[in-house]
Amino acid sequence: MTTVLITGASSGIGKVTALRLAKKRYFVIGTGRSRTRLQKLSRDAEKIGLNIETIQIDFNSIESIDNAFKSSLLTKSRVDVLINNAGFGMWGPLETLSHEEMQVQFQTNLFGPMALTRLVIPQLRESRNGKIINIGSILGRIGTPFNGAYVASKFAVEGLSESLRLELSPFGISVSIVEPGNFVTEFEKNQIRGKDSESTKFPYRELLQKYRNRRRSFDWAANPDKVARVIEGIIKSSSPKLRYVVGLDARLALFARQILPEKLFFHILRKLSMGK
Ligand SMILES: NC(=O)c1ccc[n+]([C@@H]2O[C@H](COP(=O)([O-])OP(=O)(O)OC[C@H]3O[C@@H](n4cnc5c(N)ncnc54)[C@H](OP(=O)(O)O)[C@@H]3O)[C@@H](O)[C@H]2O)c1
Repeated sequence: MTTVLITGASSGIGKVTALRLAKKRYFVIGTGRSRTRLQKLSRDAEKIGLNIETIQIDFNSIESIDNAFKSSLLTKSRVDVLINNAGFGMWGPLETLSHEEMQVQFQTNLFGPMALTRLVIPQLRESRNGKIINIGSILGRIGTPFNGAYVASKFAVEGLSESLRLELSPFGISVSIVEPGNFVTEFEKNQIRGKDSESTKFPYRELLQKYRNRRRSFDWAANPDKVARVIEGIIKSSSPKLRYVVGLDARLALFARQILPEKLFFHILRKLSMGK
């Protein structure tokens, strides 16, 4: 039986994927920060006759990652597929963010998953079909205003995945990046606003308001099951690709980015996002 370790399984894309894979008879180990939400995941699985094992990991603590890895569940089961999905968005113009806020963003979205990946690689090497699937974002390919910390963390995931894909290929381990557009999850609710992001000390309030109004009028989000289907496809594939763009919005944005001259693309993006 293929063992899948998926982080951020307590909500959104991670939860939908964990349930889908359990339904397809994978042995699923889901991680999350909140014990209560992990218990809810197990109960939701049980209600439909499935089993999902859970482990609490807070990516903001290296100790928590190390301890989880010492748990009997992770030492007994050999992981075949690691899905680095946990993450959140830090909102605010760079100038308004503190160093600590940026550090938390990178700890959760990049350094935590890097530490976990390091621990899982020996198990993936033993598997005949080892796979790492990193959940990036379309914002790991295209920058948008006021999301700089998040965007930077997701661009970093892209670079890391490219390097890892090369260095792990001699061991038969594949590395892929999934790049979703906008999907209905708890992401917006869990987004953290930089504590000074709206402060009048900085000249961004009007721009932020314009950005929000414009975003509202473009707002649409797809069902995260689509992302889960793509992830399942990667697990089943005998030679997965490096990148999987998921969602019509992401595909269109990337297409425009590829065909338009760079200056024109960013001019349009600026007009669309801030009206300036
Ligand atoms: N939704 C979208 O439109 C979208 C688009 C592009 C990319 N993504 C990416 O997709 C991934 C999943 O996001 P989502 O949309 O499903 O959001 P979500 O519903 O907010 O789920 C985020 C998950 O990450 C976990 N998490 C957050 N901070 C953590 C930490 N410090 N330590 C451990 N776990 C932590 C959460 O655990 P708790 O429940 O315990 O907090 C939760 O399980 C993220 O990497 C996100 O960047 C999402």
